[in-house]
Amino acid sequence: MKKQDVIMVDTLSDCLIKAVSAVNFDRLFCLTDTTTLQLCWPLISDVPVMQGAVMITIGATDKNKTIESLMHVWESLQKGGATRHSLLINLGGGMVTDLGGFAASTFKRGIKYINIPTTLLSQVDASVGGKTGINFGGLKNEIGVFNLSESVLLAPDFLRTLDDDNLLSGYAEMLKHGLLDRQEHLTELLAFDPTTVRGGDVAIEQQLVQMVGRSVAVKERIVEEDPTEHGIRKALNLGHTAGHAIESLAMEENRMVLHGYAVAWGLIMELYLSAVKCGFPSDVFHQVETYVREYYGKFHYDCKHYDRLIDFIRHDKKNVGETMNFTLLGGIGDIRINQSCSKEEIDQMLDYYREN
Ligand code: GLY
Repeated sequence: MKKQDVIMVDTLSDCLIKAVSAVNFDRLFCLTDTTTLQLCWPLISDVPVMQGAVMITIGATDKNKTIESLMHVWESLQKGGATRHSLLINLGGGMVTDLGGFAASTFKRGIKYINIPTTLLSQVDASVGGKTGINFGGLKNEIGVFNLSESVLLAPDFLRTLDDDNLLSGYAEMLKHGLLDRQEHLTELLAFDPTTVRGGDVAIEQQLVQMVGRSVAVKERIVEEDPTEHGIRKALNLGHTAGHAIESLAMEENRMVLHGYAVAWGLIMELYLSAVKCGFPSDVFHQVETYVREYYGKFHYDCKHYDRLIDFIRHDKKNVGETMNFTLLGGIGDIRINQSCSKEEIDQMLDYYREN
């Protein structure tokens, strides 16, 4: 797989000009959703290379990550005269970069694309690493391909548009990357309050930007080793097997939770399993637990939900057959993929989270 250029943006217009100029293309297209068209497109619409770009807009939020939205993008590319040598810029959160990446990867067997992620979550996770796709048949990211973008532009400009919940949602993936990396990285993350970025202090914003860089570097290192997730890329699922179960239960009960919140709660559960099964140090576990409880609160459930949660864990698309596998840690950076857990162990994990 080719290498993806992840660029920490200093001046958005300069970086955009460089990134677009590095690609040979005939026509330029720009995909937004209705929210990023309003809030983010004005930040780049005056950049000279964007003049003449054909705009394509889809509905906002994950409920629009559908085959219908995808068809709209394909049709717009076709009507706009896209050829195999056209370029698509995806300006948005993970929904836009995933769907746009998939549209680009399949249109005329693949055109080039650039991601400009506009949420913290998409900057540190979705836009990097080449996973593209849509939801289908009631399942998230059911259809898709691995295909890296030409480049990813990580611009602090967009972080200023985010509310506390969206900052915290992205930060959960950064906590995960810190746990997969090393002590100093995690310590810095646990000493920082991402919501303070909204105060407008330049030094605080700079610190977050540097932490975003360190976070993405962890993901890039892992993706480079295993681009198509046959082995070590499963490390990036830390917190996600339990987190997805929480997200699915919440969705079923019409309790909306942001993805990163579910990951943060899932991290507590999976670090509990890591401590019990792999000797993860209990002091570090409790530090992370304290941080998550303070900033993310708690997801409430009771014993009658256990069967449903275990059902979701068993049918996580990363699990095969009846086994329930997790990515766990023996310590910070000591990654143990494919750790099979029994129903009793998962019951104990659910007890621990519920009772504490
Ligand atoms: N979001 C996890 C991965 O990209 O593999």
